Amino acid sequence: MNRKKIVVFTGAGVSADSGIATFRDSDGLWANYRIEEVCTPEALKHNRAKVVEFYNLRRKESLTKRPNAGHLAIASMEEWADVEVITQNVDNLHEQAGSSRVLHLHGELMKLRSERNPDLIYPIEGWEQRLDATAEDGAPLRPHIVFFGESVPMFDPACKVVAEADILIVVGTSLAVYPAASLVYYVRDRQVPIYLVDPGNPDTAMMRNPLTHIKERGAVGVPQLVEQLRNELAK
Ligand code: APR
Repeated sequence: MNRKKIVVFTGAGVSADSGIATFRDSDGLWANYRIEEVCTPEALKHNRAKVVEFYNLRRKESLTKRPNAGHLAIASMEEWADVEVITQNVDNLHEQAGSSRVLHLHGELMKLRSERNPDLIYPIEGWEQRLDATAEDGAPLRPHIVFFGESVPMFDPACKVVAEADILIVVGTSLAVYPAASLVYYVRDRQVPIYLVDPGNPDTAMMRNPLTHIKERGAVGVPQLVEQLRNELAK
């Protein structure tokens, strides 16, 4: 079999079938919380307790969640393809499913970092970040999350990964948040096929590559697509 490089770019929708709410759907997180109050550097500065509590709740919830058939199908492709996952999600369900190369664009829920030195990153045991917890440089710890208005340090490495793709699969993202959404334009050339699995209508207006939209939820559409690609690439 011709071993292809498959890059999978995921958003909140890939974890929706595991019971984690997305952000912008009608029942999404941003319908219940104001971004400015829980997910910005200003919020952390002026209302630390609320930000820490918000992520403590997300972390507590995520500890009860398990990968769904979509995550598992993505991981299974490693048996016959060179697979890299780029996720906007802060959960670790791709890792739990067995994906070995996962790049987190927007940080990771199960890690904290120093407010002063972004390179001092620590795994957290359990769900609770205590408000008085500090890093070894003495600075308060904060969630290892990229807030709105902050730079996205993993964006450049992610672009390089996308540029290597023979096939790009996009799952469960509204493609509404930048720079993440622009990753789809970093494919090598106009021939690279893009497959999109999403029950909604992400913003694909500017995509010029061959695009197949599988309008299914992740736990159904991703295993179908993986099976289809496995059969096609085996020919
Ligand atoms: N399976 C697959 N996709 C689904 C499912 C499902 N069961 N349910 C909903 N979706 C799709 C929606 O149709 C939508 O296109 O998931 C997408 C979710 O979009 P958003 O809520 O905008 O999530 P995402 O694109 O990941 O958000 C990007 O925004 O708030 C920030 O940092 C946060 O990483 C996040 C970023």
